[in-house]
Amino acid sequence: MKIGLLGCGTVGSGVKEIIDTMNSEIIISKILVKDEKDIIEPRMTTDINEILNDDIDLIVECIGGIDIPLNFIKKALTSKKHVVTSNKKVMATHYKELIELAKNNNVSLTFEASVGGGIPWMENIRHIKRVDSISAFDGIFNGTTNYILYNMMQKGIEFNYALKEAQALGYAESDPTDDIDGHDVKYKCCLSGNAIWNTDFNLNDIIFFGIRNISKKDIEYAKNKKYNIKLIGQGQRWGSKANLYVIPTFLKNYENIANVPHNLNCVRLKSEFLGESSYIGQGAGKFATAHAVVQDIVSIYENRNLSFPISEKIEIVNEVSSNFYIRSKNLNEFNHIIEEKIDDETIITKYIRLKDIKDFIDKDTFIAEFRLYLQE
Ligand code: HSE
Repeated sequence: MKIGLLGCGTVGSGVKEIIDTMNSEIIISKILVKDEKDIIEPRMTTDINEILNDDIDLIVECIGGIDIPLNFIKKALTSKKHVVTSNKKVMATHYKELIELAKNNNVSLTFEASVGGGIPWMENIRHIKRVDSISAFDGIFNGTTNYILYNMMQKGIEFNYALKEAQALGYAESDPTDDIDGHDVKYKCCLSGNAIWNTDFNLNDIIFFGIRNISKKDIEYAKNKKYNIKLIGQGQRWGSKANLYVIPTFLKNYENIANVPHNLNCVRLKSEFLGESSYIGQGAGKFATAHAVVQDIVSIYENRNLSFPISEKIEIVNEVSSNFYIRSKNLNEFNHIIEEKIDDETIITKYIRLKDIKDFIDKDTFIAEFRLYLQE
């Protein structure tokens, strides 16, 4: 099987290294690079048409971004080439269009590496769905923010310092906004929900908050009360309705998920017969992510049916109620819902609907949800 690899950065070069050492019938025959100066071997080209017009069976897209990869993926599918991508942004924003294009051209489009990095998340979703119905998922879907929160908790350091460390280690996206403001987890939740419930959720209906405004003070408060704070993405479905949201969460420090260290991801499913199952592993990084890409390639080579159909219409209603921790310079909007005042700028709310306060959370406010156990 002949592979055309688009992009030879962190993930792409990992894919190349793994496949080149595999000694199988799967071979990389062409590699798209950005500039002439990046060409360091005969398989490399800067001309996408050289790859799309070739008798290649499968395109691996590891470019990142939206517009350019979208165009390439569409052209590849229309040319009846299978596509494997690690790009959550393009998949989450154009899910229906791409899934249908693959179906109409009778080829596979897979995206295992785009959620949970090296963790076989999509594979386990497929596996469990064969005999069971999944009612909920949740987890730590972003390695950068887990690294930041873990280090703030362990070393008592400030957010900016921990972010710099995460960037230096190569965990963060090129623009860390996607990591720290929750966009990255939003894309991953959308793709997880789509795959689990055979639907195409509207990305814009997902409520999301990040950890940009967290401070040492919040971490110290959590520690004193025997909580850890994690950025949690989650979804619950009942009938034709669902919750899908991303929010920093106070978790009791004896819970397993509260203790997932460093940059690891931990993702969980709840299904009727199996109950709860959890998957922990490297959610980012060159070889872990490349491993997931190559697993998809091997599955396509084995002719497996890897498709996630779109057959259900499910509306995101986000009927979520809880007590929320809010730190803001302007607490006026929250006066009527205070359960406990911690200091002049920090409160814990009464048990209220997230929907009723979400529009008052401005760009400088830190909000977190209290959960005794997830998925209750
Ligand atoms: N920046 C992402 C993370 C990479 O930190 O999890 C993997 O999607």
